[in-house]
Amino acid sequence: MNLILLGPPGAGKGTQTAALVKRYNLLSVCTGDIFRANFNAGTPLGLEAKQYMSQGLLVPDELTVRIVVDRLNQPDAQNGLLLDGFPRTVYQAEELEKYLANKAQKVDHCLLLDIPQKELMVRLTGRRSCRSCGRVWHLNFAPPPADLTCPTCGGQIYQRDDDGEVAASNRLKVYLAQTQPLAQWYKDKGLLKTVLASGSPEEVEKAIRLALEEKDQK
Ligand code: AP5
Repeated sequence: MNLILLGPPGAGKGTQTAALVKRYNLLSVCTGDIFRANFNAGTPLGLEAKQYMSQGLLVPDELTVRIVVDRLNQPDAQNGLLLDGFPRTVYQAEELEKYLANKAQKVDHCLLLDIPQKELMVRLTGRRSCRSCGRVWHLNFAPPPADLTCPTCGGQIYQRDDDGEVAASNRLKVYLAQTQPLAQWYKDKGLLKTVLASGSPEEVEKAIRLALEEKDQK
């Protein structure tokens, strides 16, 4: 199964990834994580992407498609994908469709995590992340350890610079303008499943499972 996880910044895409990957035996490909890993490693790609990310803007399509194609060409990416944060524009969706068609594959579902806007700023500005492994916490809902050391990998827990008020609010505007139209695009293809993402992580996980296992929504 090839699954797209669509939703505004802070909707809980990353939080739901672990359960989905395990349940459906998928490889998770998160473009935000790829850009951050490149930035941490000081690559030219990471430095270029950072200029856009820190302002809450999308990284240009051509660069984004190139890094995704590179990742999807790797041997471990041939059987079942969970795409988190890609595509984010209709152009990216069209390129993905062409790429998969060349491999006689397709997108099976686009799962939209739907959540009221007012909850998103709380989730984004309260998020803390591990700089090394990307694990996330939330100051109110899942507080990080007091010493800000990641219990999974020993990395430093920090606030992403695009989770500050200004960049986070820009990301929400960019989502509405450039990414939200993809929901209709996938709906027109009969691939969209919508899940309310404002309950607890466990409630959202259950709703996702039910949505993926029911017959196609009309
Ligand atoms: P990316 O890293 O993908 O960020 P995003 O899509 O904005 O998503 P987030 O990581 O902010 O949120 P999430 O939905 O994963 O939420 P999470 O689970 O962490 O992209 C960053 C940037 O990279 C983009 O802005 C862009 O510049 C660039 N980029 C990436 N892909 C691109 C593309 N395709 N094209 C161009 N540019 C691209 O949860 C958020 C918080 O809420 C956490 O603290 C969590 O603990 C908490 N939480 C989660 N679920 C719940 C719940 N059910 N109840 C209570 N709290 C919850």
